[in-house]
Amino acid sequence: MTIATVIMAAGKGTRMKSKLPKVLHKVAGKPLVNHAVALASRIGDAKPVVIVGHGADDVKASLGETAQFALQADQLGTGHAVMQTEGLLKGNASQVLVWAADMPLLTAATLQTVIDRQANNSGPLTMTTIIAEDPRGFGRIVRLADGGVAAIVEDADCTPEQREIKELNVGVYCFDADWLWENLHNIEKSPKGEYYLTDLVAMAVAQDLRVDAVILEDNTEAIGINTRVHLAEAEKRLRTRINIGMMEAGVTLVDPDTTYIGVDVTIGADTVILPNTMIEGATAIGENCTVGPNSIIRDCTIGNHCEIEASVLEEATMENNVDIGPFGHLRKGAHLADGVHMGNFGEIKKSYLGPGVKVGHFSYIGDATIGANTNIGAGTITCNFSADHKKHRTEIGEDVFIGSDSMLVAPLTIGDRARTGAGSVVTKNVPEDATAVGVPARVLRKRS
Ligand code: UD1
Ligand code: CA
Repeated sequence: MTIATVIMAAGKGTRMKSKLPKVLHKVAGKPLVNHAVALASRIGDAKPVVIVGHGADDVKASLGETAQFALQADQLGTGHAVMQTEGLLKGNASQVLVWAADMPLLTAATLQTVIDRQANNSGPLTMTTIIAEDPRGFGRIVRLADGGVAAIVEDADCTPEQREIKELNVGVYCFDADWLWENLHNIEKSPKGEYYLTDLVAMAVAQDLRVDAVILEDNTEAIGINTRVHLAEAEKRLRTRINIGMMEAGVTLVDPDTTYIGVDVTIGADTVILPNTMIEGATAIGENCTVGPNSIIRDCTIGNHCEIEASVLEEATMENNVDIGPFGHLRKGAHLADGVHMGNFGEIKKSYLGPGVKVGHFSYIGDATIGANTNIGAGTITCNFSADHKKHRTEIGEDVFIGSDSMLVAPLTIGDRARTGAGSVVTKNVPEDATAVGVPARVLRKRS
């Protein structure tokens, strides 16, 4: 049995009132369609097929190599959408799993249940339903006396009695592939001029074939996004799910309500996250760290036993036992080795700080390499940006003592164990063991 996954993502999403295609709106820091593809990659045997139409190029760009694409140039309905995948899939899979890209709370466990049920179904199709008071415009499920599904009736086409039906079509289907390709083209145009995928249910029943349905235990999985209100609702639910997962895995969240963790973030056991903290993107945090309050961490790698207080970290790396803050800023390419201490109001960009380096107060370090155990005095600045609009590097050795308020005018090399005086403006290289002072700084002659 091979399983193909198909994600419908061609619609415009008019009710979002957005220039952005609906499926590119983000939940927990990730576009809806990327959530769907991540889910599919845990289920299918090949890359998922994403049906694109509205904003096709942007949707493709968002997914890159993670999916294959079928273009639906005109959006003539969900049945028509699936027709566009036939060329890619016919003959390549025995089951075809189809769902819409706007359901970010759907779980792999649910998809697996649907697949397993269909594997045991004598008929060609298993679908998913929920029992709910609020119909949300979903199709209603009409059941047969034997419990099988008889038909899906779209909201607009319901009789008054059908409108009262509480069992609703979630829009996740697992088809027997041969049957799907044989029957898909027999769907007739609806009065609205669309080809409804849901018409396949009545078609199977007319052939005396059984349509099975899995009733979801957790209705929130079926939350589909049609408006920005739904988007916020899904955001909240997904955040809650992520946070519970973190806590169950041994992470302390002091206030889950104000802790925002992205879907792709990993955090080690016994790390404590304090309130008002956002951890986003491809971030990995180790064990026994303390993060927050009031911190933002995006696309960073953080080791064990680190402390991050009221700071902003972007695309940075911290090894173990590093502490920063309050009010530190690590920018792209900052790499703080084991035991680095960074106090308040410091900014580091594209620089390597060796083990045990201390940057206590008010410093900007950019395009620099700093050797082990060097102390950077308060208010030190690497003047990396020259009048010719070029960035230059600063190389500082090990066990160096940079005096408070030093201006290090790059390109510049300062040797191991050298010192600079407070307030010096260093424009020329400083040899090992030497001391440079003044404006501009000159090297003091060594007493012999
Ligand atoms: C559909 C179901 C309905 C179900 C509901 C659950 C049909 C006919 N109806 O209704 O029974 O309760 O989902 O949310 O399928 N799409 C395309 N191409 C198209 C049309 C739609 O890719 O031509 C995509 C949309 O981008 C969307 C999904 O399919 O992601 C669902 O389409 P939509 O038009 O929203 O169907 P609903 O009316 O919500
Ligand atoms: Ca919809």
